[in-house]
Amino acid sequence: MTRVFSGIKPTGHLTLGNYLGAVRRWAQAGQYEAEALFCVVDLHALTVEHDPARVRRLSRQAASLLLAAGLDPARCTLFVQSHVDEHARLSYLLECVATDGEMRRMIQYKEKSVVERARGGSVRLSLLTYPVLMAADILAYRAEEVPVGADQTQHVELTRDLAVRFNQRYGQTFVQPRATRPPVAARVMDLQDPASKMGKSHAATAGIVYLLDEPDVIRKKILRAVTDSGREVVYDPAGRPGVANLLEILAACAGGDPAALAGAYPSYGALKKEVAEAVVETLRPVRERHRELTAEPGEAERVLAEGAARARAIARPVVDAAYAAVGLLPAAR
Ligand code: TYM
Repeated sequence: MTRVFSGIKPTGHLTLGNYLGAVRRWAQAGQYEAEALFCVVDLHALTVEHDPARVRRLSRQAASLLLAAGLDPARCTLFVQSHVDEHARLSYLLECVATDGEMRRMIQYKEKSVVERARGGSVRLSLLTYPVLMAADILAYRAEEVPVGADQTQHVELTRDLAVRFNQRYGQTFVQPRATRPPVAARVMDLQDPASKMGKSHAATAGIVYLLDEPDVIRKKILRAVTDSGREVVYDPAGRPGVANLLEILAACAGGDPAALAGAYPSYGALKKEVAEAVVETLRPVRERHRELTAEPGEAERVLAEGAARARAIARPVVDAAYAAVGLLPAAR
């Protein structure tokens, strides 16, 4: 069985981008055809300025939303990163394999460090080393596939490079993972700024559809989406990114191919109406299940405790093997 691992960081409320790019696939293929682990990567949320109470709240909410999105704890392992020490243990070893040049080339580091500096703040060292912790998340489980959106491809490629380098230096220890992406909507764009990714940590929220938005809020956001000049509905991601984004969202929610769907709409207005209804219907069951789950607050905690125990049992021997391979003396137990 293929081993699958993926994660989501609790830096904001989950968005339609998270759902279409990653989470929906975790609930589908991930857990039925594979041995799958999904993680609320809370340590990653500390790489930028954060409010402790908010991280706690968002971590709980992410876990219950993942359950609401269809992750079945009987078939997959759902846990919180900081509950399993192996992630941080392995991250240090991988820092001894990665180079600072590699870290500085990461697109997300470049983008986020510019934002932090522009805010007048300093850049946390952990923002630079973030991809190494992410590599540790994946390699500690010897995961083969990592279902992610397009923005994480570079990090998964770095993970492969680190696995290969480690294995060459210290002997076969890690499996080389590969990123898997959805056929459409691998990069859902902000509805108000189709040049930027729909991101859960963004401050301006009018262009972001959240999984827990009420149907009328979703409709309003989509009907007000920025479209391009011109009238004809055509799928042209470079020339008409706003309309292309809507067509991709529609294809992901209702099925079909974005280019073929374009011909069916006489105007941008008609397209937007259809997209709004498709998104409302796609998210409805998630919102409803989430409401049921919040009525039994102990459930998510129980799932996370069991998940952490299962995850530890997998990661511990892998990370112990890596410690031994690099020349560290085994601790007496
Ligand atoms: P994060 O928390 O930003 O996003 C979680 C998942 O959602 C995908 N995603 C999107 N897909 C399509 N369109 C969008 N607008 C969009 N926004 C987000 C992301 O690609 C991701 O798959 N570094 C990761 C978290 C992480 C991780 C890992 C992932 C940490 N360790 C190990 C996989 C394996 C992140 O920041 O994702």
